[in-house]
Amino acid sequence: MNELYPKQKQRFKEAYATGTDKWSNNTYVQEGISFLQRLPHNTTVLDIGSGRGNWTYTMADLGMKVIGLDYIPELIERNNADVKLRGYAGRVAFMAGDVFNIPLQDKTIDIVTDFNTLQHIHPNDWNLYTQEVLRVLKPGGFILLVQLSKMTETFINFEPRASKTGNFEIHGFHYHFFTKEEFQDMFGEDCSIVRSEVHTFPHMDNHRYIFTLLQKKA
Ligand SMILES: C[S@@+](CC[C@H](N)C(=O)[O-])C[C@H]1O[C@@H](n2cnc3c(N)ncnc32)[C@H](O)[C@@H]1O
Repeated sequence: MNELYPKQKQRFKEAYATGTDKWSNNTYVQEGISFLQRLPHNTTVLDIGSGRGNWTYTMADLGMKVIGLDYIPELIERNNADVKLRGYAGRVAFMAGDVFNIPLQDKTIDIVTDFNTLQHIHPNDWNLYTQEVLRVLKPGGFILLVQLSKMTETFINFEPRASKTGNFEIHGFHYHFFTKEEFQDMFGEDCSIVRSEVHTFPHMDNHRYIFTLLQKKA
């Protein structure tokens, strides 16, 4: 496992504790909804790296039962208190756990979503991530990934589009900027790509995100 992870986990924890989790203001929800439109909504969804749960609640509003998974226990506790206050009990539950060891049984999930978490996992560990996601996903189930795109021109002081590897580290965070081909390589044998699009967000520093929907073979 990458030696950066303990530091990265600490950075995520600090950001939520101090309210400096800028990514929680990202506005890619409408595009995400469009990718789920044709999927059955009477389903159980696992939202990996759910953070404050903005996307998690959106899926519950679409009629899905959603489990939000994140490895910051303090955040999970706070989110679960909010679930009751906001009237989502029985429809949304947050669970503390690591994506490398998801605390769920095999083949129990209809749809896995991941908004901006895989991009923080080093390419050397992608196989561990795919193994876990595919283990909990039912045959015929779907995966929706929304990650930073390699088409992004500039990100802080990094130029993803011009870079060779798409890997960048700053302030204790690892970032990877993705291409469709990388998702094909990661999931290719077990899944097919249903739809993949890159969207530019002018109000989010012109960062580009790649939205990719995959289906696990039955
Ligand atoms: C950039 S944030 C995105 C949060 C949320 N999906 C959003 O879009 O607002 C990434 C999230 O993944 C969580 N995370 C990172 N690595 C993880 C891991 N190995 N297992 C579980 N959660 C992880 C972090 O705690 C953080 O909440």
